[in-house]
Amino acid sequence: MHYSLDDPFEHRKHGMRHDPFKALVAPRPIGWIGSMSKAGVLNLAPYSFFNAVSDAPPMVMFSSVGRKDSVNNIEETGEFTCSMATEALVDGMNLSSAPVAANVDEHQLAKLATAASLVVKPPRVAQSPSALECRLWKMISLPRLDDSKAEIVMVFGQVVAIYIDDAFVQDGIVNTGAMHPLARMGYMDYSVVRPDTVITLNRPIASADKQSATVQPGPWDGVYR
Ligand SMILES: Cc1cc2nc3c(=O)[nH]c(=O)nc-3n(C[C@H](O)[C@H](O)[C@H](O)COP(=O)(O)O)c2cc1C
Repeated sequence: MHYSLDDPFEHRKHGMRHDPFKALVAPRPIGWIGSMSKAGVLNLAPYSFFNAVSDAPPMVMFSSVGRKDSVNNIEETGEFTCSMATEALVDGMNLSSAPVAANVDEHQLAKLATAASLVVKPPRVAQSPSALECRLWKMISLPRLDDSKAEIVMVFGQVVAIYIDDAFVQDGIVNTGAMHPLARMGYMDYSVVRPDTVITLNRPIASADKQSATVQPGPWDGVYR
């Protein structure tokens, strides 16, 4: 199978039961976005069009297909949190995606306790092993298909505080695998990262003339390249 999307309506030409696009950009991290309306109503929702996009300063983005409560809240208040969704929290994460009204707090709906943030007003998910506190940098409207009414909004945030459960910090290194992060695959599928699926590679070192490169085998040599 090999098909073109170069025509506005060709996106349906895959001929499959469902668009395979998201199954091909996988696994995607899940940003579990916590926000608060101007009136103080809390909101929680998972977004897998989510990622880190820079590290100094740390920046993240998520994208809302349709103008959803998270986008409206962040537009109003300029702040949000991204808690890590994990295997242990999978049912709460799923329930928090319910398309309930803006006055419903999904933390309560999913029976998830909140914990206060350090810098921003929206709280984090208390049981999540890590969370990023973010300040809105910019929102960008993405292109729409000609036949689509949904506004697609990409939200960029600068990370202004970070929470890490100390139980997952060993020798100055975060043990991400031990957190069992949840990732989104295609369709209704998810995957879980566990310590036994984590591999470590040294980065290639270029030769002096930059015409070739070698990789030191074995464990990490401790140099952050
Ligand atoms: C794992 C997962 C990932 C999701 N990713 C996205 C996404 O990237 N963009 C989006 O618009 N909706 C996504 N959704 C759907 C939203 O979570 C859902 O529409 C939710 O009701 C939005 O909540 P809000 O209106 O409170 O922001 C996802 C749902 C799940 C379960």
